[in-house]
Amino acid sequence: MSNLLVFALYFLGHGQSGNSLNAQLSDDAIIFPNDEDLFQSVTSTSAQPSGKLIEIFPDNCGIQSYKFQNERRIKRAPNLIQIMVVGGTDARVGVHPWIARIGQNGRFFCGGALITAKHVVTAAHCLGKRGEYMVRLGDHDKDDDSDPGRIDVVVKAMIPHEKYLKAKQLVQNDIAILLLKESVKFTDRISPICLPMAGLRNLDLANRSVTVAGWGALSYGGEKAKVLQQANLIVTPHNECIQSYKSIKLLINNDQICANNPGKDACGGDSGGPLTFFYPESRRHYLVGIVSFGYKCADERFPGVYARTTSYMNWITEKVMNMN
Ligand SMILES: *[C@@H]1O[C@H](CO)[C@@H](O)[C@H](O)[C@H]1NC(C)=O
Repeated sequence: MSNLLVFALYFLGHGQSGNSLNAQLSDDAIIFPNDEDLFQSVTSTSAQPSGKLIEIFPDNCGIQSYKFQNERRIKRAPNLIQIMVVGGTDARVGVHPWIARIGQNGRFFCGGALITAKHVVTAAHCLGKRGEYMVRLGDHDKDDDSDPGRIDVVVKAMIPHEKYLKAKQLVQNDIAILLLKESVKFTDRISPICLPMAGLRNLDLANRSVTVAGWGALSYGGEKAKVLQQANLIVTPHNECIQSYKSIKLLINNDQICANNPGKDACGGDSGGPLTFFYPESRRHYLVGIVSFGYKCADERFPGVYARTTSYMNWITEKVMNMN
């Protein structure tokens, strides 16, 4: 057993009190094994040496490159209608370095989020087409084919959630993991998002500010965006979301998280993309949702619905460990 793991085990018994959240978040090596359920489930199913546990998720996650922090917003080309997350604005280059585009034959129809150098999380409903899938990383203006910041990687394996279900009255476990054929090199434009482990797993996000990004439709049934769009949303109190969808007989469960903001929403083509939360204590961005569905787009009565990533930490960890 490595020293780090011994330390982590020690920490396991002391992690729930006081200001432990800070301590956990300041060192990602501790976050992972500090989660008791997770620790037990992965040790029981994994063939990996236990010392590897702490290395599966990168610790330089959730950080926007310093290089782009002070860059001005990209100027809008005057004749283009550019909005695609409905009601969003052009994202600055490099502020969503984890965002992935998922598609086939140079046509991209979904979003995703990079969580390790070889794994992307997306929505299960994005899979199911025949043929080879590709992931494009580091993209910004999707029509700029000379952009040196972006890369395409072939998908080697895809695992939709075993209990994914899309029926008339409910969509469940709309989450999937893609394994890339090669590890990608992290750059200013390509780096992973953090997963909400440990203390963050239980943080109530109701009414908190979150961000959705993607190249999806600018309006319901409308044109798709050229430049990556982002919109700030507010996490809908869960009961409110349940009530909204009850009116059209759609069931919302606890493994979903809803977010809205008048006039803003995810829309067609944003599916699988990341809903992220910036946690000020750790100054990092976390993947808290995966774009799943909504009723039309930005209809004020219906918040957007996302797979709630905190419900899937064990599942994600097991898949990442077993897909190499
Ligand atoms: C969220 O906002 C609603 C309405 O303002 C309020 O009733 C509720 O208590 C808030 N919830 C949390 C967790 O802050």
